Amino acid sequence: MTKKSPVSRSGRFHSGPGADVATFSESVSFDWRLWKHDIAGSMAHAAMLHKIGVLTKAEARAITAGLNQIAREIAAGTFVWKAELEDVHMNIESALTERVPAGAKLHTARSRNDQIALDMRLWLREEITLLLGEIVGLQRALVALGEKNLEVVIPGYTHLQRAQPVYFAHHLLAYVEMLERDCERLWDCHSRVNVCPLGSGAIAGSTLRLDREAVARQLDFVAADGRVQLTQNSMDAVSDRDFAIEFCAAAAVLAMHLSRLAEDVILWASAEFNFIKIADAYTTGSSLMPQKKNPDVAELTRGKTARVYGNLLALLTLLKGLPMTYNRDLQEDKERLFDTADTVRAGVRLMDAMFRHITLNHPVCLAAASDPALLATDLADYLVEKGMPFRQAHHVVGAVVARAESRHKPLNQLTLADLQAVDKTFQREALEVFNLQRALAKRNFPGAPGTREVARQLARWQRILGS
Ligand code: ARG
Repeated sequence: MTKKSPVSRSGRFHSGPGADVATFSESVSFDWRLWKHDIAGSMAHAAMLHKIGVLTKAEARAITAGLNQIAREIAAGTFVWKAELEDVHMNIESALTERVPAGAKLHTARSRNDQIALDMRLWLREEITLLLGEIVGLQRALVALGEKNLEVVIPGYTHLQRAQPVYFAHHLLAYVEMLERDCERLWDCHSRVNVCPLGSGAIAGSTLRLDREAVARQLDFVAADGRVQLTQNSMDAVSDRDFAIEFCAAAAVLAMHLSRLAEDVILWASAEFNFIKIADAYTTGSSLMPQKKNPDVAELTRGKTARVYGNLLALLTLLKGLPMTYNRDLQEDKERLFDTADTVRAGVRLMDAMFRHITLNHPVCLAAASDPALLATDLADYLVEKGMPFRQAHHVVGAVVARAESRHKPLNQLTLADLQAVDKTFQREALEVFNLQRALAKRNFPGAPGTREVARQLARWQRILGS
């Protein structure tokens, strides 16, 4: 007969679960990664139990020392995780109680229901902070690439058709803006993650006079204004997973942005565009076609967006039909949450590294941006400045474009006579519209892709990002 674990709940049961049930129900194979947070939570709980007289000083000390020893073993990889102990909580508590008899008092006024809610919040709080740091890294890489190619102009596209000329930096800064909103969403989510659920027990708190505030303070559940953050309803606290869903939603938007950025990289690196060259390390060859250089990092970043979306939907679905309060279904939240955090963090990190190893093909960019058709709208603006209503100017320039096309001439090769044949409003200086530098210099209000404005935006971001 095997020795009973000190955390066994066997009082009520005549037999343990069968092997297949145990395999089906265990979570330690994935929730072990919450160990640091589980131990931090137990230490704060033990300190509070001592404060309210449930543990003597010596007991609290022995528990803390035991937990420290377990933490060292886990970090060193020598701790033996046991699937039959189900989850990270029972594994740690069982190991503790084997070493420290007072460990049997640690679960006083605590349930795994508030414990797992606590561990997840502690873990996610840290993940968000790390992710935010990595997003800033990617923003810096984008700003640095824009800064390094300050002069480069490319066509901006709508419908994937050439539209109007923009600085390459302006295009990159569009993503810096998106990523900034991602940071804001994540930081906002952080404020709701950063609330301490411990003390909620299984569902209805405890008859013991717990000092929840002391626990929350020790675990740094403190808002920016210095106020301690405690959940205010024990039933909500043990069954709420909004904080995880919110994170997965913010991560899904982030993944969508990364995917769009990846898509631009893939297009730009194609022979058809040929705007950029990605360093070999971020590409792979083909097993069959010797000439191939595929942008796999960008493709996988785009592809992994699918699982981030899937995880969000899985969590929403997991929660939608659950009766109050804790249900074991909730154990299914961990892998989806972990996978989302791991996937977006890797995506951000890899895109950051790749962007530091991208070079621009200046002559190709210049040739594409020099297509005079990109300045057809500028020609309409010229007519507007002469007093023509825009709708009419649009029509006139359309006729100019048709004329150039029928003569197989680029727009800027038309003569003043050609222009005047369409509309007499055109004067000699109309042809200056096709000077690309002048066209860019003219776009200078906030948010425009003009020369001065883009330089101002780059400087603004360098200031914000400290790069
Ligand atoms: N492993 C469980 C989970 O992830 C921990 C909470 C277990 N609670 C319970 N009443 N069985 O949700």
